[in-house]
Amino acid sequence: MAETHSITIMLLIFSGKLFMADSKGFFPEANVTCIIHDDCILPCSFRPTGTVVIHWYKQQIPVHSYYYNKDQFGLQNKHFSGRTYLFNSHIPHGNASLLLRRVKVQDKGRYKCYTSTRKGNQEIFVNLEVKALIQSVIMEMSDEMVTCSSQNVYPVPQVTWATDPPSAQDALENATIKITDHKGLFTVESTLRILSNHSNYTFFCSFISADKTQVWTVSRKNQESITQEEGHALSIPCIAPQSLQNFSLSWTFTSSSEFTVILRYDSRTRHTFILWEGQAELDQDLLLLGDGSLLLHKPDSEEHSGTYTCTLSGLQSRHIVLTKVNITVASISVDEQSVQRSWWSTAASAAFVLFTIMLALPQCVRQRGTAMEASHRYNGAGLVHKDQNTTALYINRQHGVECNTLQLQFEAQDELSGSVPKTAEDCTVDVPAGTKIEEEEKTVGPPVEGNDGLQSSSLDKDGFGNIEPRLHIP
Ligand SMILES: *[C@@H]1O[C@H](CO)[C@@H](O)[C@H](O)[C@H]1NC(C)=O
Ligand SMILES: *[C@@H]1O[C@H](CO)[C@@H](O)[C@H](O)[C@H]1NC(C)=O
Ligand SMILES: *[C@@H]1O[C@H](CO)[C@@H](O)[C@H](O)[C@H]1NC(C)=O
Ligand SMILES: *[C@@H]1O[C@H](CO)[C@@H](O)[C@H](O)[C@H]1NC(C)=O
Ligand SMILES: *[C@@H]1O[C@H](CO)[C@@H](O)[C@H](O)[C@H]1NC(C)=O
Ligand SMILES: *[C@@H]1O[C@H](CO)[C@@H](O)[C@H](O)[C@H]1NC(C)=O
Ligand SMILES: *[C@@H]1O[C@H](CO)[C@@H](O)[C@H](O)[C@H]1NC(C)=O
Ligand SMILES: *[C@@H]1O[C@H](CO)[C@@H](O)[C@H](O)[C@H]1NC(C)=O
Repeated sequence: MAETHSITIMLLIFSGKLFMADSKGFFPEANVTCIIHDDCILPCSFRPTGTVVIHWYKQQIPVHSYYYNKDQFGLQNKHFSGRTYLFNSHIPHGNASLLLRRVKVQDKGRYKCYTSTRKGNQEIFVNLEVKALIQSVIMEMSDEMVTCSSQNVYPVPQVTWATDPPSAQDALENATIKITDHKGLFTVESTLRILSNHSNYTFFCSFISADKTQVWTVSRKNQESITQEEGHALSIPCIAPQSLQNFSLSWTFTSSSEFTVILRYDSRTRHTFILWEGQAELDQDLLLLGDGSLLLHKPDSEEHSGTYTCTLSGLQSRHIVLTKVNITVASISVDEQSVQRSWWSTAASAAFVLFTIMLALPQCVRQRGTAMEASHRYNGAGLVHKDQNTTALYINRQHGVECNTLQLQFEAQDELSGSVPKTAEDCTVDVPAGTKIEEEEKTVGPPVEGNDGLQSSSLDKDGFGNIEPRLHIP
């Protein structure tokens, strides 16, 4: 009984071709495109009338068979082994569609769905196209060349180049290389030679998929380098070449010693993640217009000289701007020079004055016949203590002194604060031990080292220092 059945069925299989004309199906020819590595359905329907025999072929190669109400793999080509399924529960309803799993490049081609029932036979053809989507396009640039590449694509996409400002098409010499891997996927690389007078142009390369459904564009500009003196705010431009929606922005910094991320921004959340907090900033309003220029508040020659890379990434697009920034050490301006000169004259005057005090003090002491005892509390000498803004003079002595003849004039203090010059008349006041005589003037002094009786602190951070004189009383 089973044997007769099987013979009948075999007859049906091999006679299929003879009867194919009798009912040319519902879909004469279907076109299906599947994405590589995905699962794919090849559609096929028939009029259900009782038992059915289903055979799927690719050209003449057996792909999948179904009879006796079950799948039959005896004749299946091993290329399809384990990857083909029918929707068995739908077969009684006339559904003979084939599910092909993990589609490969080699699967593309013309398939035949043969069905046979008591009412007749049917052949339906399905053209399977496969494609591997463009996942990314990478652009690399040297002084002479710009290269765009994309890996694992199928079929070969079209590559086009453009520049801003525009160049004549014949100036855009290109060479495209296609490499197929063992899976049949392509790596496509296109190279453009950069004319020397185009070095700061923006280069665009577009990969257009064969079916034109995907267009990836990558652009890059090696901006002219920026040289600026340190301490002044600096804006590094980065403007999107076309309007962008749903983009992200990142700024990175590279120098010989480091690579760091400066910040990241996402237009969907409008959130900025800044690693250079307090040093760098974006203008939020300009950002929404596609201007991601970076503002550096106070660039420093050592920390901030290097290459800045701005990357604007949108849907299937990327724009990169590279800028070399050279922050030079601040040169001394005319104003600062004159201030510095006055510091030096201040120092000279102060040194002179203090030297005079040193000579005069013992005399004063002798005149009054009073011994002046220097306190040993402060390094064995009267100490001039530096406060931030005031120079306080601590002279520890047991008795006041009178020094009418000595005029101490702090010229520098006059210049800078306009206060009344101090004279040696201060000496007339009897000062109890430990009393602090404050020189209220804001004393601004230069760095002075090795002056007898006078030492100064070095310039402090903002360039202003205070004299820190010491009296060495013999
Ligand atoms: C399938 O593609 C071929 C060419 O590739 C075309 O001639 C035919 O009309 C297409 N069939 C359908 C149903 O779209
Ligand atoms: C057959 O069934 C599957 C699974 O439900 C469905 O995806 C497919 O579209 C059906 N095919 C036809 C031709 O009805
Ligand atoms: C190369 O340039 C020629 C002429 O400009 C153009 O026709 C061709 O499409 C280009 N090839 C690629 C891959 O861009
Ligand atoms: C750039 O140089 C090429 C030759 O090297 C010349 O043909 C072209 O006119 C130049 N373009 C510009 C904008 O100077
Ligand atoms: C770079 O571009 C600017 C304008 O964008 C232009 O003024 C300058 O001459 C260009 N430099 C070179 C070397 O082509
Ligand atoms: C941008 O993203 C939002 C939400 O993520 C989405 O609704 C919108 O369609 C996207 N717009 C574009 C142009 O992709
Ligand atoms: C930065 O600019 C200074 C002054 O113009 C120059 O001497 C120095 O070589 C430049 N440094 C770099 C890395 O270009
Ligand atoms: C110095 O004096 C200025 C003006 O009087 C004042 O604003 C500043 O806080 C003072 N600095 C210090 C460190 O006391």
